[in-house]
Amino acid sequence: KQHLLSIKQLTNEKIHHLFEIAKRLEREETKPSYNDTFATNLFLEPSTRTKTSFHIAERKLGMEVLELGGDDSSLTKGESLYDTLKTIEALGVDIAVVRQSEIGMLDHCSKGLDMSLINAGDGCGEHPTQSLLDLYTIFEHFNTFQGLNICIAGDLKHSRVARSNAFALRQLGANVSFASKEEWQDPTLADRYINIDDAVEQCDVLMLLRIQHERHEEQETTGSYLEQYGLTKERESRMAAHSLILHPAPVNRGVEIDADLVESPKSRIFRQMTNGVTIRMAIMEAFMKGEL
Ligand code: CP
Repeated sequence: KQHLLSIKQLTNEKIHHLFEIAKRLEREETKPSYNDTFATNLFLEPSTRTKTSFHIAERKLGMEVLELGGDDSSLTKGESLYDTLKTIEALGVDIAVVRQSEIGMLDHCSKGLDMSLINAGDGCGEHPTQSLLDLYTIFEHFNTFQGLNICIAGDLKHSRVARSNAFALRQLGANVSFASKEEWQDPTLADRYINIDDAVEQCDVLMLLRIQHERHEEQETTGSYLEQYGLTKERESRMAAHSLILHPAPVNRGVEIDADLVESPKSRIFRQMTNGVTIRMAIMEAFMKGEL
């Protein structure tokens, strides 16, 4: 069985193949119907977009969907994630979409499973399906990645989205830069950082990240962050006319981005969410055909 655990698994050809499937699924009235297929969404960390969009994608493809959480499963009795997944597999589930906090855990689990596993976010590790929907949103606008200047800005250290996107965007030929306050810089991503004032003037795409308060030991004071490091209206006014603002969301309005800019003309934040359903359908379709 195939798994999608890291964006590093995917060549540029595979990424573009997924875009082709997504475009076809957007066009076609009649979707494939996998009504003998059972998918489970097992989310052990909170989610609105990823969980809901996987559910909708699976249902649009005619799959039977089982939602499982950490609090209503036997994980609360101490059953391991591996045994939970083995159980789901024994019950007849074909694909499990899992969000959990431990880097490497899904890789470990996948070795003993016959059903397909999809990483829906593993702590500060990776978020390959978010990356694919971000890439799809960029490609939809620019029709290329080659030579695009893309700045990923914000809480890099805790961001699985930054890790997946930095790898994929570099592989696809984009020029990737990073802006972050010093304590959230991550040497595994880059050894050179630019400041947000330079970023807004240079970039074709500004990819903002949420400040992940839940992964910090100290709480941020919000007002000063926007002024020092965030996308204010004044900074947005210095961005090129053709440039885009992306954010994986949830957004801390007024912290990493001025509240009014979330729905501004350059913003594709809600388009990213819509594309999340399409790209997750494409991933499922590729799984079903053994094409991933
Ligand atoms: N972008 C993202 O992963 O959002 P959720 O945490 O709501 O799924």
